[in-house]
Amino acid sequence: MNILVTGGAGFIGSHLVRRLVVQSGHYVVNLDALKYSGNRANTQDLDGHARYRFVHGDIADQPLVHSLLQEHEIEGVINAAAETHVDRSIVDPGSFAKTDVVGTGILLEEARRARVKRFLQVSTDEVYGSVEAGMSREEDVLAPRSPYSASKAGGDLLTLSYWTTYRFPVMVSRGSNTYGPNQYPEKFIPLFVTNALDDQPLPLYGDGRQRRDWLAVEDHCAAIERILLNGEPGEVYNVGGGNERENIAVAERLLALLGKPKSLVRLVEDRPGHDRRYAVDCRKINRMGWQPTVSFDAGLKATVDWYRQNESWWRPIKSGEFRAYYEAMYAQRLKEGLSASSSCGS
Ligand code: TYD
Repeated sequence: MNILVTGGAGFIGSHLVRRLVVQSGHYVVNLDALKYSGNRANTQDLDGHARYRFVHGDIADQPLVHSLLQEHEIEGVINAAAETHVDRSIVDPGSFAKTDVVGTGILLEEARRARVKRFLQVSTDEVYGSVEAGMSREEDVLAPRSPYSASKAGGDLLTLSYWTTYRFPVMVSRGSNTYGPNQYPEKFIPLFVTNALDDQPLPLYGDGRQRRDWLAVEDHCAAIERILLNGEPGEVYNVGGGNERENIAVAERLLALLGKPKSLVRLVEDRPGHDRRYAVDCRKINRMGWQPTVSFDAGLKATVDWYRQNESWWRPIKSGEFRAYYEAMYAQRLKEGLSASSSCGS
């Protein structure tokens, strides 16, 4: 299949592109805007491959998308381009609406006009909102609570409307928290691993008892490929790792793997509107023959080893744009700790 993957220089996108080209033998055009978290190094090994092209550009660039779809005779589109970090969405919500809603809309419309055969929108379990108990099912009402998850929910709904309205064959995947090599170190696991490697504090939000379901990036990519190829048009598919853990347990496990003391964990002021728990019912994609294959223990260890062995990947990131972000997001929090910021009314 000739596939356009957007956001293929990002974390999930780069693993996905490699899988599609090398393992599955597809022809892939990788369209990536190379914003702060997009990184050419993530797919450098594919440069020059006969079934791979990299294009630097934005999903919202309608003439560019139009010409790529024609020129490469694209049959399938996977939209993995997105602004993804909740904390950034709290300080800059506009860029999330722009990429995750408007950008998705432009890509969808061009794909429909080009009569692309299948379109997969890569989304997130965060669109269901915080789930205190039970598991989210694909037909649940969406209740996003951050500008990030609200923007993704907008993208999902717009995508699904193309099936209802035009019978344009779209699918939506809703993945749980994904981890693995090449993840930009603003996210929980790579931030904590790289901080711990430098004996820096690990800023754990609130009481650290929020729960996430961790999904290995290779399992997530296998699910995405399966949905693109075998999913039913107009359908949504949850994708979870089956590894629900409290954040504090993950932090302590990472420290144990690194041989670092638990005292590096610092409870800090919580994220506003912090979702307590996400959990997805995955029976629908299980029925399509997909199951996660990576145990959390093995996946976490492999991830920690990768960051240990690839300082040349993450050190330049942490000393660049990231530095100002980290300072703005964490300096005050780490200075005050939790007691000062949560003393109100207590
Ligand atoms: P994150 O990786 O940002 O993913 P998401 O918010 O999309 O689930 O965060 C995962 C969990 O870790 C979430 O409950 C927030 C928490 N967290 C911290 O406690 N400290 C941090 O510095 C970060 C980035 C996240």
